[in-house]
Amino acid sequence: MGELKAINWIEKNLSPEFSTSEEFIYNEMESQSCYSLPVIYQPFDSTKKSHWADRGSLFDYLYSTNGGGKLLLDFGPGDGWPSLIVAPHAAEVVGIDSSPRRVKVCNQNAKRLGIRNVKFVSYKVGEKLPFEDNSFDGIMAASSIEQTPDPKATLKELFRVLKPGGRLRFKYEALEQYRNSKEKDVWIAELTDNSCKLVLYVRDLKQECVTQYGITVSLSKREIVELLKRDGGTHFTNITVRFLESIRPRIIGVQICRLKHPSGRTYISWLKEIGFKEVLPTHSGADAAAKLFEHYKQLQIPDDIESVDRVIKPVVRVAVQLSAPIETDPMITAVK
Ligand SMILES: C[S@@+](CC[C@H](N)C(=O)[O-])C[C@H]1O[C@@H](n2cnc3c(N)ncnc32)[C@H](O)[C@@H]1O
Repeated sequence: MGELKAINWIEKNLSPEFSTSEEFIYNEMESQSCYSLPVIYQPFDSTKKSHWADRGSLFDYLYSTNGGGKLLLDFGPGDGWPSLIVAPHAAEVVGIDSSPRRVKVCNQNAKRLGIRNVKFVSYKVGEKLPFEDNSFDGIMAASSIEQTPDPKATLKELFRVLKPGGRLRFKYEALEQYRNSKEKDVWIAELTDNSCKLVLYVRDLKQECVTQYGITVSLSKREIVELLKRDGGTHFTNITVRFLESIRPRIIGVQICRLKHPSGRTYISWLKEIGFKEVLPTHSGADAAAKLFEHYKQLQIPDDIESVDRVIKPVVRVAVQLSAPIETDPMITAVK
């Protein structure tokens, strides 16, 4: 109850501005992934499960879209993921993101990595994608469709720019994973050395939507974490009216962002309605590669990226064709 008092207090006293997700967070961060991405920011390390999963994702997107040697679109690439890891296997990858900051960072990363068959472009939220009908052989979208103001309209646009027979492969953040513990949640995003954003999530699993409150403060992430530690830590329940009043002089911006987060079931019904011929919920290459890592842990782990790719590829090729239960909110391939 106390926690909802804090939300009511924010709405009443801080008059949050409505914003899109790019205004809310993606334009603000230099690295949207906190520089964690293997290959793009970190040297590949075969002893890390997450790095195996990353390679699994690469081959997932490549195989699911039949994208080898083809022209692919990456919708919402963030820091250039998966465009920059898939590009060496495709003819060309175009990344499109509504956030100008993300496009700038993606271009910088491509240049730093010397990847030339990729380009990143921006467009205005709510406008049509700046591509002709039937332009792309395949489309990849990683955790981006539900960040747009109207995910169903976004899918219609992706359908329009995909060639007939082309394949859309996407990952999404369904809300079921937050049930019973994380419906209400807090995240602190570091913006600069002396500013950060306190993000409060209020997730409505039934309505499949999330309301995010963003409170930008002129305090470092470390300082705000310290303040919250005194009340027991960075938990939603510790964001009380008393706490908010105590940091009020340091508040420099308040935003609210409402996003639809469809479940796998909802996505599948929309994709069929939009006209995709086949809609295939399947296992993910990332999970398959992570399982393989567990297996290799007992044996001898291959230590270079080429050897890891060699063992991952055949497994991912099978995993992405295996249908997965819809209740698990699996990754989805849709064929036009
Ligand atoms: C969660 S991030 C995912 C980034 C990247 N694909 C990854 O998995 O690391 C969501 C991305 O979607 C982009 N995005 C948000 N709204 C968008 C829109 N209307 N059109 C295109 N991209 C959008 C954001 O700017 C951000 O880059």
